[in-house]
Amino acid sequence: MAEVVEDATLDEMLAAARAIMPRAYVPYSHFRVGAALLNEDGTIRPGVNIENASYPLSVCAERNAVASMIVAGHGKILAVAVATDAPTPTPPCGGCRQVLWEFGDVDTPVVAEGAGGVRARWRLGDLLPDAFGPDDLT
Ligand code: THU
Repeated sequence: MAEVVEDATLDEMLAAARAIMPRAYVPYSHFRVGAALLNEDGTIRPGVNIENASYPLSVCAERNAVASMIVAGHGKILAVAVATDAPTPTPPCGGCRQVLWEFGDVDTPVVAEGAGGVRARWRLGDLLPDAFGPDDLT
């Protein structure tokens, strides 16, 4: 069962995700995404999307945040935040849901904020039902 994450922490994570958005490298889509992950020790790891002239090699903000978390020595995601300037809050794409699942669980909160502060909230288990994950390989 996931630990309860305070609303104030989710607010802080969304602020961190929004603050990092200007660093997104998005010359092709111009769609900036900022992500932030909460680690076991309460630290927050940000990420942005990084696109490439070879389009399929572009990497989403959430997956870059996972890379940053792993490099920093963490291995568990307690919450996920995603910020964009889209009219509706942007949920993690299918590929990112799978990568987040590796380090989260059914109850991990996923919050998103779009333009004008409009927000949405999900549980990771609802975004990726019947997920394939590490337990399937034991
Ligand atoms: N993108 C993300 O960074 N996260 C998502 O979950 C959805 C899509 C990025 C990928 C690409 O750089 C741009 O948004 C448009 O798809």
